[in-house]
Amino acid sequence: MRNKLAAGNWKMNGTSASLAEIDTLITSHPTPKCGVLICPPATLVGAMAARTKGSAIATGGQDCHADTSGAHTGDISADMLVDAGASHVIVGHSERRQDHHESDADINAKAKTATAAGLIAVICCGESDDQRVAGKTLDIIGAQLAGSIPETATAENTVVAYEPIWAIGTGKVPTLEQIGEVHDFIRGALIKRFGTEIGDNISVLYGGSVKPSNADDIFAVNNVDGALVGGASLKAVDFTGIITALENS
Ligand code: PGA
Repeated sequence: MRNKLAAGNWKMNGTSASLAEIDTLITSHPTPKCGVLICPPATLVGAMAARTKGSAIATGGQDCHADTSGAHTGDISADMLVDAGASHVIVGHSERRQDHHESDADINAKAKTATAAGLIAVICCGESDDQRVAGKTLDIIGAQLAGSIPETATAENTVVAYEPIWAIGTGKVPTLEQIGEVHDFIRGALIKRFGTEIGDNISVLYGGSVKPSNADDIFAVNNVDGALVGGASLKAVDFTGIITALENS
């Protein structure tokens, strides 16, 4: 039985005042029938973890370094996230692949360090608009998965998120057929590489312009086990709609 997960990625948004949104989430979903995760900016991880303690809402980081410590100004380690109360960390988001030139090998190393520290790694993949138009989507996703997911991945320590770059923050959503095609492909690749017991049980999230209004349809697609949500995770009123859709899927 795969875990369903509604994950919010606040990106570079939010100050301590934003934590009030979390109180609303806890009140509206005291015992959710799916996993709920919020990944705030690093400055809020500790405060959010303290605020959600004893609730069903998990806290995650948005990135970590591949090294466990050392001379890396501005970076944070997986152990620091654990120490701050995080249970998850996103690695390989397309914005990091783009802004920080992260390669599949970098992401693989980060995921390995994160899981060794006890975090669940949410490993992202996704094609650009040009790559989709050129008919290369499945090749790109296959290569990203092969390069970014470490050998040490298990269903307990790894979640995969498929996020087409052209759908992130744009309001453009792939058709349900397009989402289904990629999710079935990812499932097949995971089973082929890790065997059925692991490959069939790693949760695969869809991300890119998920909203309360399209969540029901997206969650009905085969092999979609939840969502990684940017914009619509910032306000509790939107995110609760997505959580409810996942609970009912
Ligand atoms: P979006 O972002 O929901 O704002 O499109 C998704 C993501 O980048 O995780």
